Amino acid sequence: MAIVADVPTDLPEQMYAALIRECGPPEVIGYDTMPVPQPGPTDVLVRVEAVSVNHVDTFVRSGAYETKRPFPFVVNRDLVGTVAACGAGVAGFAVGDRVWCNSLGHAGRQGAAAQYAVVPSDRLYPVPEQADSVTTVAVAHPAATAYLALHTHGRLRPGETVLIAGAAGHVGRAALALARDARIIATASAADLETCRQLGADVALDYRDPDLATRLHDAAPDGVDVHLDTSGHHDLDLATGVLAPRGRIVLMAGLGARPELPVGALYTRDAQIAGFAISTATTVELAAAAARINQLVADGSLTPRAVEHLPLSAAAQAHRRLETGAARGVRLILHPPA
Ligand SMILES: NC(=O)c1ccc[n+]([C@@H]2O[C@H](COP(=O)([O-])OP(=O)(O)OC[C@H]3O[C@@H](n4cnc5c(N)ncnc54)[C@H](OP(=O)(O)O)[C@@H]3O)[C@@H](O)[C@H]2O)c1
Repeated sequence: MAIVADVPTDLPEQMYAALIRECGPPEVIGYDTMPVPQPGPTDVLVRVEAVSVNHVDTFVRSGAYETKRPFPFVVNRDLVGTVAACGAGVAGFAVGDRVWCNSLGHAGRQGAAAQYAVVPSDRLYPVPEQADSVTTVAVAHPAATAYLALHTHGRLRPGETVLIAGAAGHVGRAALALARDARIIATASAADLETCRQLGADVALDYRDPDLATRLHDAAPDGVDVHLDTSGHHDLDLATGVLAPRGRIVLMAGLGARPELPVGALYTRDAQIAGFAISTATTVELAAAAARINQLVADGSLTPRAVEHLPLSAAAQAHRRLETGAARGVRLILHPPA
């Protein structure tokens, strides 16, 4: 791959950004100007087209998720846009390329919610030619999370049985697309069961059904190999009761949850519980997830449930809506001014 050193001279000096000067409630997010950041030798400067709003963005903003934040700190982590400039040591990207990233705004990196963002080149991926930019950024975070849950930490193998709890949610929906080589049991609200089946679930069950445990046993008589609960409501008795020998329970939601642990039933099955946060994924793990996401976005099998477009200046309102549950089923997408 050729080394490119693409640094146009017509970049503006200032840009608009959604930024915080301290942690706190959504209203600490200001809409302000700041200097356009300069890319380092292995960085890419991206002109941002769209930014998604994720639960983790609210945790980083509020301080609930501990990480290094250089103030003034640009919020949010996922963007899609076009390459505006490349550092001299960047290979594989050129000005004008459509690109996406899902790991800004963490561990000292500035966030994505601005007109321009600096992205380390090993955290940047091409948008497939056939793919829509907004679709790509809307699915990036939930789909990368689902990939890490199923494959990196759940070690799901083709033909195994996976239980996806919360399958109609953003992460759950992506997990349905990513687990297509497995036998999928989904749980969701009654109104979402048919959608879950259309998206690939072999069995879809109402999570409010009082007979759920019996129905799960009937659906998986040999047990569930990977149990993924995206809802954050962990019923580990239920999960362990239907777990196959050597089954894996993946924990990835419920920051404050303190479920009871059925110790004996777990160790006598040789079971494992694996937890993870996408924030701590390595660049190699994130790139593996991105490659698979790009395939599924390009072939149209990975789509968001619904998308709502907002101006970047509405970032505080978007955080508030996500936190209060007022954005149920919808991916909120922020657009910086052109
Ligand atoms: N660890 C990580 O790296 C990571 C990354 C991304 C997200 N997350 C976390 O993952 C969680 C899910 O995110 P999301 O965007 O997918 O949220 P979401 O769209 O709200 O999905 C959650 C789904 O769970 C369903 N649900 C609620 N209670 C349930 C229960 N008892 N059993 C089964 N399903 C139930 C909900 O259905 P109804 O609305 O119909 O009740 C909803 O469809 C969030 O807590 C988020 O913070 C973690």
